[in-house]
Amino acid sequence: MKKLLSLLTVLTLVSTSALAAGGSVELPKQPWSFQSVKADWEKDKIYRGYQVATQVCMSCHGFKYIKHRDLMKVGFTEAEVKKLAEEMEMSVMDTFKSALSDEDAIAAYAKALPDLSVMNKARPGGADYTYALLTGYKEAPEGFNLPDTGSYNEYFPGHVIAMPAPLAEGQVDYFDGTNATVKQMASDVAYFMQWTAEPELTTRQQLGVYVLLYVFILAILLYFTKKRIWSDIKRKDTE
Ligand code: HEC
Repeated sequence: MKKLLSLLTVLTLVSTSALAAGGSVELPKQPWSFQSVKADWEKDKIYRGYQVATQVCMSCHGFKYIKHRDLMKVGFTEAEVKKLAEEMEMSVMDTFKSALSDEDAIAAYAKALPDLSVMNKARPGGADYTYALLTGYKEAPEGFNLPDTGSYNEYFPGHVIAMPAPLAEGQVDYFDGTNATVKQMASDVAYFMQWTAEPELTTRQQLGVYVLLYVFILAILLYFTKKRIWSDIKRKDTE
C-alpha cells in the first residue's frame, strides 16, 4: 500500500510539472473525439482539415510526412485520393511541400517555417495548442509594445508571433457545405494535424482498453489461484 501511495505521488508530481511546462497561459480544452476510447478517425473531419491545410496552411508550411495515399487509411477510396492529388497537380505519392521555399521564408519572416506534420506532438497541449493559437489573435492590450513584424496572439509564448492570422471567416469552401467559421476551420485543421502527428492514436487507445481488460481478468484469476494455493498449504499444515 505504501508503495502504491508513493507511486501515485510521483505520478501526480510528474503530471503537474508537465502541465506547468506548458507555459503560463492555460489552454482552453476542446472536446476532441480522438480522446474517446471508442474513437476512430472521422473521415469528414479529416477531409475538412485537409481542405484547410492544403488551401491555407500549405502556402507557408509543409507536411513533409504526408502523402495523398495516406488518406486511404482513414476511409478515402483510391479514386477519391487520386482526384484530390490531381486537383493539386500532385501524384498520390508526393509529400505535401510548402509553396514557400525556405529562402523566401527567411527573406519574409527571418526564419524557415516549421513543418506541420508532427507539430501537434512537438508542442505541449497538442491539438488544444494549435486550436488556441489559430483562434488566439487579438488586439494587443494597451501599452503592449508590438513590433511591426509580429501579430499579437494570446497563446503564443511571449504573445508576438511572426505568423499573420492565417484564418478568416468563409476562407474555405467546405466539400460538405459546413459553415467555414474561424473556429470551425481551426478545429478541423487541428484535428487533421493530430492525425498527421499520431495516425496510430485511435488504434492505440482501442488496444489500451483490451489491455486493461486483460490485466483485470488476469488479476482476478491470480487472486483465486493464490487463495487456492494457500488453502491447500493450510490444509496440509493441519494434516
Ligand atoms: C502567410 C504564411 C503563413 C500561413 C498561411 C500559415 N502560417 Fe503558420 N507560421 C507562419 C510563420 C511565419 C510562423 C513562425 C512564427 C514565429 O515563430 O513567430 C508560423 C508558425 C506556425 C506554428 C508554430 C507556432 C509555434 O508554437 O512555434 C504553427 C502551429 C502554425 N504556424 C500553424 C499554422 C496553420 C495550422 C496554418 C493554416 C491554418 C498556418 N500556420 C498558416 C506563417 C504562416
